[in-house]
Amino acid sequence: MNFQTVLEGLPDAVVAVDEGLKVVFWNAAAEALTGRSARRAANRSLKELLPPDSPLIRHLLETVRTGESRSEGESTLETPDGRTVPVSIVTAPLFDRRGTVEAAVAVLRDISRIRELEAEVRRGETLAAAGRMALGLAHEVRNPLGAIRGAVQLLARELAGQSRFGEYTDVLIKEVDRVNRIIEQLLDLARPVQLRPAPLNLHQLLERVALLSSEGAEAQGVTIGRRYDPSLPPILGDEDRLVQVFHNLVRNALEAMKHGGRLTLTTRISLNPLFAKMDVGAGQRSMVEVQVTDEGAGIPEAVRGKVFDPFFTTKERGLGLGLALCHRIVEEHKGALRIDSAEGRGTTVTCFLPIAR
Ligand SMILES: Nc1ncnc2c1ncn2[C@@H]1O[C@H](COP(=O)(O)OP(=O)(O)OP(=O)(O)O)[C@@H](O)[C@H]1O
Ligand SMILES: [Mg+2]
Repeated sequence: MNFQTVLEGLPDAVVAVDEGLKVVFWNAAAEALTGRSARRAANRSLKELLPPDSPLIRHLLETVRTGESRSEGESTLETPDGRTVPVSIVTAPLFDRRGTVEAAVAVLRDISRIRELEAEVRRGETLAAAGRMALGLAHEVRNPLGAIRGAVQLLARELAGQSRFGEYTDVLIKEVDRVNRIIEQLLDLARPVQLRPAPLNLHQLLERVALLSSEGAEAQGVTIGRRYDPSLPPILGDEDRLVQVFHNLVRNALEAMKHGGRLTLTTRISLNPLFAKMDVGAGQRSMVEVQVTDEGAGIPEAVRGKVFDPFFTTKERGLGLGLALCHRIVEEHKGALRIDSAEGRGTTVTCFLPIAR
């Protein structure tokens, strides 16, 4: 076995350039990471393949110039389709016999999976903290709230007939109920999820959710479209909890399309490089994707990282608990949630769930 074969088979991307930045080596992992084949990259300048300010070019140029290694643990790489992949980069010079730099090699590692896992862990911690707070709060707040509600009901009876006061007592009761609902939902987050997983037909489940929202959708001028993969295998999940998840996602989609539009429910077997196979505790399992796509307002880049945080909301009457709860439930299913959004054009939430087998 020669060195070339070894380098070719490495899981990290290996790119070598000569002193003029012309590509002389490009392994299979580099093809996968950059989305460019070795055949197309060979003998071309790296500057034609990547944006001129790309960190990879900068590090390789410096290595060629100084004869020193460079390393950056948290860098990025742009792909031809416009995505930015988080990567770590290490470069090293290659010297000729006289000791002058004749080439430089870079090793790039895709760290997106690590980043996603870190984000998941952070979310999980926030949720756990919110849950503990909720339990304490619920005990302290629930009883006085019950007392207030009772007193207001008595008051309403005393004031019956005086319509002006009736309005006030209605408001009081409505708002007390709202606070109660917040506490109930918080408790929902705090309670350990007791899953009763069984093989489920996702399409039947999604139709249940669509039916729940069909009236509201129609009133808003939203049509609900389906793109179901008829060969989708049953998944392993808790029906009621998953209805909760998709109901929340559909509600968010509808709330984002105040002026109508199209809501699409899509299912497919996942080919996503990060999530297509997940370890569910009993070995690797294939995943399916359910997508809820809307043509609504989209989520501004600046808040995209916060939407799973409990209490993060941009809605006047929102609680900001919908996505936090969805995340919690999907996590218990050993699945994952991803959000892709373009401001002004719409949002797609993808839910990955393990198939039953
Ligand atoms: N499909 C979507 N389109 C645009 N923004 C969205 C979408 N889904 C979620 N968001 C944003 O994420 C925020 C948090 O969503 P989440 O469902 O957790 O809470 P909420 O909808 O505000 O309130 P709740 O679901 O508790 O009634 C929303 O306020 C909104 O800004
Ligand atoms: Mg919501």
